[in-house]
Amino acid sequence: MAVSRRVLLVGGTSEIGLALLDALDLGADDVAILAGRDEERLAAAALELTCRTVTVPFDALDPTAYQALTARAFTDGPLDLAISAAGVLVPQEVLDEDPARAGALVQTNLTAHVTVLLALAARMRAQRRGTLVVLSSVAAVRPRRANYVYGAAKAGLDAFARGLADRLHGTGVTVLLVRPGFVTGRMTQGMKPAPLSSTPQQVAAAIADALAQDRPRSRTLWVPRPLVLLATAMRLLPRPLWRRLPR
Ligand SMILES: NC(=O)c1ccc[n+]([C@@H]2O[C@H](COP(=O)([O-])OP(=O)(O)OC[C@H]3O[C@@H](n4cnc5c(N)ncnc54)[C@H](OP(=O)(O)O)[C@@H]3O)[C@@H](O)[C@H]2O)c1
Repeated sequence: MAVSRRVLLVGGTSEIGLALLDALDLGADDVAILAGRDEERLAAAALELTCRTVTVPFDALDPTAYQALTARAFTDGPLDLAISAAGVLVPQEVLDEDPARAGALVQTNLTAHVTVLLALAARMRAQRRGTLVVLSSVAAVRPRRANYVYGAAKAGLDAFARGLADRLHGTGVTVLLVRPGFVTGRMTQGMKPAPLSSTPQQVAAAIADALAQDRPRSRTLWVPRPLVLLATAMRLLPRPLWRRLPR
C-alpha cells in the first residue's frame, strides 16, 4: 500500500509551486499544505488539487511568521517535502526610487526563506528525513544592472541553500536547489522572454523528476539544463561588457 505524503508549499499560490504539486501526482490520501497571504486565492488553488488540502496564513513580511507556519506544518504528522516558493519581482527602476520596497523584496525573497527553512530543517532533522526545495534563479549568478536587488536576494538565498545542504549532509534531510531561467507566467507577465525560457509546468516536471531519483541527496538543478552553459558565459563576460547589457 502506498504511504501518504505530506507536502508544504510556502507561497501557496505560486504558479511554479502549484505546477509542482500537479507534477507530483498527489493522491486522495496525500496532504498539501498551502501557506500564503491571501486566503481567497489559497482556497481557489486548493480546489484545483486532487489531494487533501490545508491552507495556512503566512506573510513573508512578518519576521516571526515562520513560527506559526512551522508549528502548523507538523501538527498532523511528519512532513515529507517543503517547497520554498514565495517571491516577488519588482522593476529595478521602481526599487531605485523606493528603498523601503527594495527592503521588502529582500525580506520576501531571502530573509523569510532563511527563517522558514531553518525552522523546517530543524523539525525535519528530528524526524531524520525530508526534502526542502528552494527556488533560486539564474539571477543569482551575477548581479545585473537591470535587476540587481532581485539578483542580490537570489544570490543570498542560493548561498544559504548551498550552506544548508552541507549542514544537513548525513542527517537524512536533503535540499534540492533549483535555478530556473526566465519562466513565462504571472511573475514575468508583460516581459519579453529571455533565451532558454521555460514554463511553470516545465520547471515543475524537472523538479518532480529530480525528486523521483531513488537515492536522496542534495543537488542543484538548472531548468532547462543548458542554462548552466549560459551561466558560465555570464560569469566570464568582462564587466565593461556585462554592465552594458540592456536587461
Ligand atoms: N517566474 C520566473 O521567471 C522565475 C524564475 C526563477 C525563479 N523564480 C522563483 O520561483 C518562485 C516562484 O515563482 P512563480 O513564478 O511561481 O511566481 P508567482 O506565481 O508570482 O508566485 C509567487 C508566490 O509568492 C507569494 N508571495 C509574494 N509575496 C508574499 C508574501 N509577502 N508573503 C507570502 N507569500 C508571498 C505569492 O503570493 P500571492 O498570491 O499572495 O501574491 C505567490 O504565491 C519565486 O521565488 C521566484 O522568485 C521565478
